[in-house]
Amino acid sequence: MSLLPRAPSEIEVVAHRGVSAEAPEHTLAAYQQALTLGADAVECDVRMTRDGVLVCVHDRRINRTSTGRGVVSALDLAELEQHRVVRRRPRGAGIRGRPPRPAVEEDDDEPDEDAGRVLTLDRLLEYVTASPGRVRLAIETKHPTRHAGQVEAALITSLRRFGLLAGGRPLEWSGRPAVRVMSFSPTALRRVRVLAPDLPTVHLVRQILPRTRTRTVPPAGTAVGPSLALLRQDPGLVGRLHRAGLQVHVWVVNRPRDMHFALSLGVDAIITDEAAVLMHLLGRD
Ligand code: G3P
Ligand code: CA
Repeated sequence: MSLLPRAPSEIEVVAHRGVSAEAPEHTLAAYQQALTLGADAVECDVRMTRDGVLVCVHDRRINRTSTGRGVVSALDLAELEQHRVVRRRPRGAGIRGRPPRPAVEEDDDEPDEDAGRVLTLDRLLEYVTASPGRVRLAIETKHPTRHAGQVEAALITSLRRFGLLAGGRPLEWSGRPAVRVMSFSPTALRRVRVLAPDLPTVHLVRQILPRTRTRTVPPAGTAVGPSLALLRQDPGLVGRLHRAGLQVHVWVVNRPRDMHFALSLGVDAIITDEAAVLMHLLGRD
């Protein structure tokens, strides 16, 4: 790990949906593992239920990640809670040498009262703020098919309720904001900045950004989150964004050789399902 642009301690390790290579995604068990590993931050996707509760679910539907079926925004929380959270992909898929897990796995490591139940954002915030270990939160709002505008308002209300936001300013842990909001939608990020002007925001991007845009008009937010594929197509993007005063948070980087590639470019944060692998590679385990 020598001759990298940044020291290993400067790279933010972000556990994607918790340590989702090891436990079912978006479960307290997955987030607990991130804290145990000493990851710097955890990523979480939020969607709003029909009755206005923010839940940590990636897909528009619950079919892949639970025993139930249906669209999150068309179900009440009580209906979502009737189904068990499961994972339907092998553990460590894509990482050579890692043993596969059963095709469907339940989250046995969760605290009893939460076991198998969909995770609400408030429960995650309660868990993280009550933990003695400090892990920052990178919360991604998914494009709502319903509830446009309500998601951001509910998110800000929850952050205030758990003391993560005072006025528009985020709480700081070790001199860095304890929470940030990410989205592919510039509109969603603009709404967040109106409600909480000092809350860091990360504009997630899949497509090549026009060079003129990164030179003259910074994308929405304080950081840009390019996909790994985008950085492979355009490695110079990191330098251009840094010169524009923006951090670079790359997603989702799971293979050691891809982690080396991202580190060689000098990114600020790496979002990964394989937080243990990245911590090891950085010599932080
Ligand atoms: O952290 C950003 C990344 O999570 C975006 O993609 O589909 O995993 O939410 P997705
Ligand atoms: Ca996400």
